[in-house]
Amino acid sequence: MHTLAMMGNSFGKATVCFEPQGKKIEVEHGLTLLDAARIAGVGIRSDCGGRGICGKCLVVVKDQKGLSPPSDNEVRLLSSARLKAGYRLACQSVVEGDVTVFIPPESRLEARRILAEGLSRWFELDPAVRSVRVVLAKPSLLDTTPDFERLFNALKERGLGEIKIEHELMQRLPTILREANWNVEVILWMDEEVIAVERGSGERGVYGAAVDIGTSKLVLHLVDLRSGETLSVKMAENPQLVYGEDIISRINYAAFEEGGLARLQRLVIEAINSLIEDACREAGIERDRIYEVTVVGNTAMHHIFLGYSPKQLAVAPYVAVVRRSVSVKARQLGIKVYELANVFVLPNIAGFVGADAVADVLATGIYESDNMSILIDVGTNSEVFVGNREDIVSCSTPAGPAFEGMHLEHG
Ligand code: FES
Repeated sequence: MHTLAMMGNSFGKATVCFEPQGKKIEVEHGLTLLDAARIAGVGIRSDCGGRGICGKCLVVVKDQKGLSPPSDNEVRLLSSARLKAGYRLACQSVVEGDVTVFIPPESRLEARRILAEGLSRWFELDPAVRSVRVVLAKPSLLDTTPDFERLFNALKERGLGEIKIEHELMQRLPTILREANWNVEVILWMDEEVIAVERGSGERGVYGAAVDIGTSKLVLHLVDLRSGETLSVKMAENPQLVYGEDIISRINYAAFEEGGLARLQRLVIEAINSLIEDACREAGIERDRIYEVTVVGNTAMHHIFLGYSPKQLAVAPYVAVVRRSVSVKARQLGIKVYELANVFVLPNIAGFVGADAVADVLATGIYESDNMSILIDVGTNSEVFVGNREDIVSCSTPAGPAFEGMHLEHG
């Protein structure tokens, strides 16, 4: 039913006006008011993901000529007094003509303050990406070493071992070397892959981005990989919130709505791209100087980000697609940084103990401690770790969005 509604029908279009935002949108008949709001970028609570269960997508429509009559779910969830006063559920109300919709405060998804600061500990800077300046001898009739071997030999003299290079970069290599007059800066990933070869000024810097994809919020740190300095921190709501506030609603949407997974993946990637753009602007650097992006998130967010179906996470025995870390080229995901930059997604532990929790353990260092420690990550999904250098056990529980500052009236 909902899939059909998402597709709309071809019997005509209607204008839906959302108040108090004053946003107007033209949609096909057959979409729900919640669908129309999502298209218009108007945030309406939809805790159950639009399945007519939670009753949180309340809206008020005084003139209902352009709407379907109240559904059984609305009659069940709304009192007759509320129905009489014009209250409807946005996920149940189908657009059949022009309509003006008022979104009451309790149904609005509004911007929250997001805490992105904290303590950090000292560690040795050892980034996956580094740059090496090399000056190559020009080929001659007495030295006909091919371009890549010439580069490889120069890197070998600097102590590097076997090295590979992306096909596209190999195609461009002859032009780059000659235009740079054989004086180049080589960007290496893990000292095992050449990911960029550039004119050898070495002045443009090497940067990385670290991204935390939370169920409710996204946080990005832009870091200078040569100095370890954090240049900018940007944050935003997770735009997938309009498809449900809890993990299960997102999983259901990704798994059972036509095109749902691709839609949720696109939303989070677009949001990350806009955080990258903002961070680069603030730091005054070009986004194509970002050569490494590290991503964490709970297992459902991790799967959706990578375009893996999270369907099996919602049912026992809650099996993930992959536990180990994943490395993907930025251009494969549409992340707008240097196109051959590596996107490194940390490993997860289980269906509901994700890569974000692994990052917690790494960042706090409890895995190195002789003392027994307890680590609690409070989020929409919360994880607890207990242990020390010998062993660590973990568990998780849904904690709801209140710990992320959602729907708090006081405090
Ligand atoms: S009833 Fe839950 S989103 Fe409409």
